[in-house]
Amino acid sequence: MVLLKINRLNKIYNGKVNVRAISNLDMEVEKGEFLGIMGPSGSGKTSLLNMIATIDPPTSGSIRLNGKDPYALNFDQLAAFRRQKLGFIFQSFNLLDTLTVKENIFLPLTLDGAPLSEMDMKLERIAERLGIKHILEKRTYEISGGEAQRTAIARAIIHNPELFLADEPTGNLDSKNSAEVMQLLEQLNSEEEATILLVTHDPQAASFCSRVVFIKDGSLYNEIYRGDSRTDFYQRIMDTLKLLGGGPR
Ligand SMILES: Nc1ncnc2c1ncn2[C@@H]1O[C@H](COP(=O)(O)OP(=O)(O)O)[C@@H](O)[C@H]1O
Ligand SMILES: [Mg+2]
Repeated sequence: MVLLKINRLNKIYNGKVNVRAISNLDMEVEKGEFLGIMGPSGSGKTSLLNMIATIDPPTSGSIRLNGKDPYALNFDQLAAFRRQKLGFIFQSFNLLDTLTVKENIFLPLTLDGAPLSEMDMKLERIAERLGIKHILEKRTYEISGGEAQRTAIARAIIHNPELFLADEPTGNLDSKNSAEVMQLLEQLNSEEEATILLVTHDPQAASFCSRVVFIKDGSLYNEIYRGDSRTDFYQRIMDTLKLLGGGPR
């Protein structure tokens, strides 16, 4: 089943010079896919993700989630759509440091007025799985980068969104923490059939995906599928990046 369908998408930033960030892009993402998005710096990855995230409207073309166009919603509907259907994970974690880990994770549920008992039940399961039970009462400045990213993941998954959007989620992590975060995302994908879109410049991180699309100058350049072997996939990602040029970012 197709969860996300993108048709002839264009994004042009108007300024002194107009920049065409995304150009006639078509893409489909199946429900339950773990899709990596790679490409040189400035190729349009963040622009694409922001349009899917309903943060920034397309110049033209369409984005449909479950056949519905989020940009056709009114302001309140759109806010609810973002909270209920999407889960965001960013490079900079975006945690509020006046709140505890637990309060940060509860944030999306609080906004939707979920009852406390339900929130606690969900938290129990998620904190266990992410290995952050022991830090729930800590403030976010008291925890490590890896713990912060696991907290951000917990916050993104607690309301069971249909689509996870991650922009360089391992960008601020060392290789060990980065691999752990990727394993968590991989588990989330394989065990709960979460659909994940991951923008990354890191071939190691991308090798956890089931498919990687490569973007160049705002258009689709190539796509490759993982198959059985992650090491083999990693090698094919490296090879494609070499062909793509413009450095790994
Ligand atoms: N808000 C913006 N205003 C103007 N130009 C932008 C803006 N955001 C991105 N761009 C330009 O659009 C192009 C694609 O950028 P971006 O989507 O951030 O690429 P990537 O994430 O792949 O590095 C770049 O040329 C960038 O300079
Ligand atoms: Mg970017």
